[in-house]
Amino acid sequence: MPNLFDPLSLGTLSLPNRIVMAPMTRSRSTADGVPGELIATYYAQRASAGLLISEGTVPSAMGKGYVRIPGIYTPEQVAGWKLVTEAVHAAGGRIFCQIMHCGRIAHPHLLPGRAQAVAPSAVTPNVQTWTDDLGMLPLEAPRALETQEIAGIIEEYRQATANAFAAGFDGVELHAASGYLPMQFLSSSTNLRTDQYGGSVENRIRFVLEALAAMISVAGPEKVAIKISPEMPFNDLTDANPQETYTTLVKAISGLGLAYLHVAQTIPEPNYHALLRPLFAGPYFAGAGLTNESATALLTKGQADAAVFGVAFIANPDLPSRFAANAPLSAPDPSTFYTPGAKGYTDYLPK
Ligand SMILES: Cc1cc2nc3c(=O)[nH]c(=O)nc-3n(C[C@H](O)[C@H](O)[C@H](O)COP(=O)(O)O)c2cc1C
Repeated sequence: MPNLFDPLSLGTLSLPNRIVMAPMTRSRSTADGVPGELIATYYAQRASAGLLISEGTVPSAMGKGYVRIPGIYTPEQVAGWKLVTEAVHAAGGRIFCQIMHCGRIAHPHLLPGRAQAVAPSAVTPNVQTWTDDLGMLPLEAPRALETQEIAGIIEEYRQATANAFAAGFDGVELHAASGYLPMQFLSSSTNLRTDQYGGSVENRIRFVLEALAAMISVAGPEKVAIKISPEMPFNDLTDANPQETYTTLVKAISGLGLAYLHVAQTIPEPNYHALLRPLFAGPYFAGAGLTNESATALLTKGQADAAVFGVAFIANPDLPSRFAANAPLSAPDPSTFYTPGAKGYTDYLPK
């Protein structure tokens, strides 16, 4: 069985190790969602990861859910991301772009023309969000998407994928986790639709399948990946039968030839890696709450091909070499996770 320091092939891409940096929103872009040199430095510092997955990046202005997060739908954003991918490649790394549409997890204050957020159904999340000028605000009722509007959102994922490749990314990851738009379609508490996108599990997984198909149409399957987080309660949603939902979804995408399936195990039970790994034919990335030891154990048990680390990468840019040396890890400062500037971002140095 492989260990964390063995190489891994993802389609045409060769990862030198199996230690992957998780997608993490850090809110260092401009108000218009343009990433710059500071963000390029941050990712390049972490280029010794087998693979970097970018922070959630929005495919349209209506997909935005947080202050200062990046987009990939304007020429300025694409040019900004080019700085990032060039810096990562110059440092010997590889980077996927995580495409995130927040759906109902968006306050009108962050949306164009104070628009109502869009969602599968008009179910208001019991969630508050930060705004730079008004502080914390409770989210408001979203508007249910009309059936004929959904093709337009799927098209946003296709265009965002094309833009990501124009910006030099090595691949794209569909963010179908953490309670954002695709997971809102998957979950029965947020999807009350009676059209072909709601009701049965086959209908609730349709949005994700169509988004993946659109992304594959421009990138080929081996450069497209997906992240899911079964039963994650974050962002106030639940599913009546999550094991059925996620086993059906994973069986449906298993044969597509995707770059990888990324599963965040955010609850103690059931063990979704044990449940889903055998159902997926391609590379399987396990994440959330892992340590050097627990990740090694997952690889040894055959429950993952690579391990994804989030918080540990924030304060340890050289995480693979720290793991290799069994060196102690630095602790990050959560008060600077989402604040502008270099503090708590690019000032954690390698040991
Ligand atoms: C500051 C921060 C921002 C995050 N932003 C994202 C994001 O944009 N997209 C995403 O899929 N997950 C996001 N996550 C979740 C991580 O990808 C990961 O699943 C989570 O941190 C658990 O892994 P860990 O225990 O190794 O940190 C974020 C986590 C943190 C700590």
